[in-house]
Parts: sequence; structure tokens; C-alpha cells
Amino acid sequence: MMIRNNKELMAEIGRIAEVAGYLWTKGWAERNGGNISVNVTALVREEEKKMPAITPPIALQEAVPALGGHIFYVTGTGKRMRYVAKEPLANGSIIRISYDGMSFEIIAEEAIAPTSELPSHLLMHNYLRSSGKDSRVVLHTHPTDLIGLSHCKPFMQSETITRLLWSMIPECRIIVPRGIGIVPYEIPGTIELAHATIKQLQKHDVVFWEKHGILAVGEDIIDCFDAIDTLSKSAQIYFSARMAGYEPEGMTDKQLEDLVPAFGLDKIG
Ligand code: 13P
Ligand code: ZN
Repeated sequence: MMIRNNKELMAEIGRIAEVAGYLWTKGWAERNGGNISVNVTALVREEEKKMPAITPPIALQEAVPALGGHIFYVTGTGKRMRYVAKEPLANGSIIRISYDGMSFEIIAEEAIAPTSELPSHLLMHNYLRSSGKDSRVVLHTHPTDLIGLSHCKPFMQSETITRLLWSMIPECRIIVPRGIGIVPYEIPGTIELAHATIKQLQKHDVVFWEKHGILAVGEDIIDCFDAIDTLSKSAQIYFSARMAGYEPEGMTDKQLEDLVPAFGLDKIG
């Protein structure tokens, strides 16, 4: 059985490759920086779901019971986004979670070991699914400007950084309506990082990993990219004003509040 014959699945993998290319051209993906996982279960046919595995089961550190039997595309550990963009199936793999949610196996197309951030990605998918959300995408990347902000302690407060970036341009309030969650520094790839991140998802769709990177969850990979891109734009406006020698005024509270009814946004914070 050839996964490549599944047009809907290949179209989604094409969109993942498109975004991987943006991450590289944006300068957010040095070497193997960043990783992507997408729950593609709805796009996989019943007979494909039963494909024989090409690796033995690999135990997960923590079970993900809400994901039993689910299928994901995940980028490979150590793989470069600029190559994911060209050959997503040679730089990532399709994995199937066991029915008890305690392990996974690779079912296609090559035995490419998944990202070292798989514990975080799967715990996030597990959390999102068990809370009834249709968010199928987790996107993690290393935008220079946003990581730069995360080196400044006063900014590492959710309300402070959200207010600052929202106030640089109206679109930011509209495109990132639930604001930014903060995860204080943790070693990349650890279960501690995973736990700290899922806590933030209760309130936010975008999370900063202090001194490391940013992460977005959502229904669509292009939307996840757009959220991070808009935050990066705000950070650039802030930094260019500071570099020109002045503190940017920022939108006023009233200007920000007026966007809520005008764009039908949920009021938070
Ligand atoms: P991987 O190559 O294992 O995906 O790691 C990249 C990264 O950004 C870790 O946070
Ligand atoms: Zn990273």
C-alpha cells in the first residue's frame, strides 16, 4: 500500500512542506531548528490505518490515551526544515499511536526517528483532543526576534508580552486573540517542558519557550504559521523603533478594546 496514492493526505503533507519552506526562508530554522506534527487521522483511509509497521513499537514516556489509534505526520529529529520543504517524507514519518496510547510505531514511508520534541507534541495533541478541540497541528520554530524578547525577564510575563505585541499593530490582537503563554526555560525535549506547555494551552494557542522558541497549536498549519509570523512582525516593529532611539507609543487600551466588538473577538485578560 502506498501512502503516496492518498491524494488528500499528500495535499496536507504538501501544506506542511510549504510551511517548512517559510520557516527556513524566514530565518527561523537554523540547522534542524523547529519541528512539526499534524494529526492526519481523518485523511487516512481505514485500510491505510492498518498498514504494517516498519519499526517495532517505541514506548512513550507518558501515555496519550486520547490518541489511541491516531495517525500523525511528524518531522524527523535532526532534520532540516529546508529539506522537509523539498522532501517531507524523507525528512519526517507517519506514525501510529497504539490503542492503549502507550507507544507508537512508524508506518510510512521510511524509518525516520521523530522529533526529540515528540513528548511535548503528543501530550499537547492528547490535551487538545481530550478537551474537545479540533486543533490538529503543533508547530514549533525558532524566530530570532521573539527568542530575543524572551531573554528580557520583564517580558516573560504573559500579560506584559501579550500587551506589548498586541499594541504594535491591530492585526496582532485579531490574529492571536488568546494571547501568549510563557513557559520558563526547560531542557529541550523533556517531559517537564511538555507538562509546562500543556498547562499554558488552557488559556493560549501560542506559547513562548523562554530562550528557546515559540510554539503554536491550531486547526490549520497555515494559520499556526500566520500567528507566529504576526507576532514576529510586532516584535520587529518594537525593535526597529527601539533601534531608531525611541520607545514606540503602542496602541492605547481603548484602541485595543475597540477591536473586540469590531472583529467579534473574545475578551480576555
Ligand atoms: P529536533 O531536530 O529533534 O526536532 O529538534 C529541534 C528543536 O527545535 C528542538 O527544540
Ligand atoms: Zn526548538
